[in-house]
Amino acid sequence: MTDKLIIFDTTLRDGEQSPGASMTRDEKLRIARQLERLKVDVIEAGFPAASHGDFEAVHTIASHIKDSVICGLARANDRDIARAAEAVAPAPRSRIHTFIATSALHMEKKLRMTPEQVLEQATQAVRFARNLCGDIEFSPEDGYRSDPDFLCRVIEAVIAEGATTINLPDTVGYAIPELYGHFIRQLRERIPNADKAIWSVHCHNDLGMAVANSLAGVKIGGARQVECTINGLGERAGNCSLEEVVMAVRTRRDYFGLDVGIDTTQIVPASRMVSQTTGFVVQPNKAVVGANAFAHASGIHQDGVLKARDTYEIMRAEDVGWAANKIVLGKLSGRNAFKQRLQELGVALESETEINAAFARFKDLADRKSEIFDEDIIALLGDESVTSIHEHHGFLSLSQRSETGERPHARVAFTIGDREVVAESHGNGPVDATLKAIESQIESGAEMLLYSVNAITSGSTESQGEVTVRLQLGGRVVNGVGADPDIVVASAKAYLSALNKLHTGGDRVAAQG
Ligand code: KIV
Ligand code: ZN
Repeated sequence: MTDKLIIFDTTLRDGEQSPGASMTRDEKLRIARQLERLKVDVIEAGFPAASHGDFEAVHTIASHIKDSVICGLARANDRDIARAAEAVAPAPRSRIHTFIATSALHMEKKLRMTPEQVLEQATQAVRFARNLCGDIEFSPEDGYRSDPDFLCRVIEAVIAEGATTINLPDTVGYAIPELYGHFIRQLRERIPNADKAIWSVHCHNDLGMAVANSLAGVKIGGARQVECTINGLGERAGNCSLEEVVMAVRTRRDYFGLDVGIDTTQIVPASRMVSQTTGFVVQPNKAVVGANAFAHASGIHQDGVLKARDTYEIMRAEDVGWAANKIVLGKLSGRNAFKQRLQELGVALESETEINAAFARFKDLADRKSEIFDEDIIALLGDESVTSIHEHHGFLSLSQRSETGERPHARVAFTIGDREVVAESHGNGPVDATLKAIESQIESGAEMLLYSVNAITSGSTESQGEVTVRLQLGGRVVNGVGADPDIVVASAKAYLSALNKLHTGGDRVAAQG
């Protein structure tokens, strides 16, 4: 058995299924590039048959990423599989991941199929996929709640058809570490051709045990691939978190005896990028990537760490990419210095037009903020005026007035398509007045589910404010993110960004629907 643990990242597929986390093609490409820098072995880039947009995103990623295997998800039918094969084709190394539910509950209630029909469809799907791609992963969806005898028949059959990876999803986060580990171990012991495939774990976090279950699947079950997402992003309570599973295996190499190929110094930049792009804020006490993960507040701990670091630290902050907020650029920095910093950050903007737009935004920011950190640069790249996303609603300017004892008032100028409009409103506070002014013109009728403000760089009010707005309309949930030293402006940008997503979003098939 190999001593390498394959890291399969599904932030762009299972992570994106989290309500409101949907990303544009350009956002996905930017994250895929960061995942490549992180050196993940496999990037599950999306579900190409879900929509035209999903297909385009996977195809674009497959055309640009060279170092990681690019995987596309497909239900177990010829159309989905052919679409996935087409989308991942440009990648130097590609994989098709096909799945079908195998639990009695899912087969009867969701698929309305008999076990024999499911067995037949799984076998046919893998046979068809294997003719299109040499690297095939098969998942029995809701595998952990499936009958082990039936699972053995299905898995043996798909391995015989050429499946190279067998993934055992705990789709609803029901597993307990020890039981999940033994479940996989028993399957591997019972299935005669089990050693012809690599076994993989895929755990959801409904009971807060996704990382523990994944590690048990590795240690007890002998799995050699872990499916995970940055920040544990994913539907409901999320998926197994990449940073936690990677750092557990690395920090406790004495116990696991496994190597991971991840460049751990890229973990925090990846976490920041995913959180800034999706608007899913990382809780301060989150392991590895939370703002407090390496902060020692109590006097006894501080004293200990100063005397000998390992008294209270099992990992080094710099090993996971926590660098002191380095001042990188300022008002006098030129276009070349800016472009070089983008390159050092590994950001490849597609065209000179995009670089020019980003530089203009940078100059604008540098006029208002004396020190520009890497985090500020990453945030401004998320600005829709920089990316090639066509912004239907674009922010232009804002003035607002608030004084103790008076009702705040805002006046906002923005675009609707090619038209410039100016809207005014009073509100309970400056942010409320601003969003009410925008809504008075757009009349989206969207319901606001979340409004949150965070400082982009910690520790000072000089930081830019980063605002996330989550809107719901007609069953769709979207997140908009906006950053600016003025949090009222950041709020207006976030609101317009969410409206843009509502405006452009199309129909999409859900993977587990
Ligand atoms: O959780 C799950 O079952 C999945 C499959 C599609 C692999 O995400
Ligand atoms: Zn899943």
